[in-house]
Amino acid sequence: MTGRAAAAAANLWVTIFVTADTTSLLDGLNDLWAGVPLARVAELRRSGTGGRPSFCLALHYPPGGDGWEVWLSTLASTLARRLAVSAVDLEAVFEPRPTLVPADRAGLGDVAHLVAISSAKGGVGKSTVTYNLALALAGLGARVGVLDADIYGPSLARLAGLAEARAHSRDGRRLEPLEAHGLRVMSVAFLIPDDTAVAWRGPMVTQALQQILLQTDWPPLDYLLVDLPPGTGDIHLTLAQRIAVSGVVVVTTPQELAVLDARRGLRLFEKMRVPVLGVLENMRGYRCPHCGHEEELFGQGGGEALARSSGVPYLGALPLDPALRVASDEGRPVVLEDPEGSLAARFRSLALRLAAHLAALDPDSLAPPVIETEEH
Ligand SMILES: Nc1ncnc2c1ncn2[C@@H]1O[C@H](COP(=O)(O)OP(=O)(O)OP(=O)(O)O)[C@@H](O)[C@H]1O
Ligand SMILES: [Mg+2]
Repeated sequence: MTGRAAAAAANLWVTIFVTADTTSLLDGLNDLWAGVPLARVAELRRSGTGGRPSFCLALHYPPGGDGWEVWLSTLASTLARRLAVSAVDLEAVFEPRPTLVPADRAGLGDVAHLVAISSAKGGVGKSTVTYNLALALAGLGARVGVLDADIYGPSLARLAGLAEARAHSRDGRRLEPLEAHGLRVMSVAFLIPDDTAVAWRGPMVTQALQQILLQTDWPPLDYLLVDLPPGTGDIHLTLAQRIAVSGVVVVTTPQELAVLDARRGLRLFEKMRVPVLGVLENMRGYRCPHCGHEEELFGQGGGEALARSSGVPYLGALPLDPALRVASDEGRPVVLEDPEGSLAARFRSLALRLAAHLAALDPDSLAPPVIETEEH
């Protein structure tokens, strides 16, 4: 290219770059983790001056996970092609767009998203999943808290390695969350001796939940994950009716009976207008700790079929892996113990899909909590 032609080309891209609407540059492109139109979960902004065109992709969930670098460089090539230039600079930043508006989060402080992890059936791995998803999100750069809403059978304290810890209050009114593995953690187990809550019923449980959720001095958080007890009882109703929940994740194992229960739980949240962010299938297949081979112990695909028939996203699966149980029992979460391992990678993918579907929610369509008591 001659000097004059090069200057003309440079002028052309400057004109296009300055006048082009950045939103339309994303037309027809989908995001990596939720597969939704990219413009729903990100904003593209021009950045830098001079040199070649530079953009910043302000993503409403943390950038990262397997395949991220390749995806980002493909996006940069697509933008360059659309602008008819040879290359663009593109960087991505995490810019959360809260699903909880200030009026909803009275008492919660500066918490952008509150996500409940539920299953109608007990023992399917909710607490294990909650804690490791929280760590995966924190590992991606998010500020994360976890609340143990299982008042009758709290287990997050053990997972966090805080079995003997107690919560304190600076002013005698509000509670300080505890810290473990970079997460903020609160549980009724930090307030009362073991087993005390077992005899509690209705109003006491509701009060205890509101206290640990709303009277805790949460620092600014991008995600607060709430580990629910099994079933569809007072705690679920309180959460859905009195507190603005951004969305819920339904955990199930693959067998038909577990899926039937999960469907019941899913319907309850739908009825209460809490967005279902997706179904997560736990213990799908057994992963041999010696050879890594996976066997379908409880069948497969029940969670996937449930998601499909309910019209909600399928977030993915985790295998039954003894390493996960051992690590959890010892308060050494697998996401931190073996960050390069396959379980940690799966938790990262699951966390990113969850965060992406959360980011894709239309904030205007989020319903306020339903205050009146309904028949269920
Ligand atoms: N994918 C997995 N592979 C192996 N063990 C697992 C897996 N998921 C969970 N577990 C183990 O299963 C047991 C039950 O898990 P967890 O306590 O997380 O379930 P839960 O759904 O929270 O139970 P509850 O309904 O009682 O609250 C724990 O011992 C946990 O370590
Ligand atoms: Mg549990």
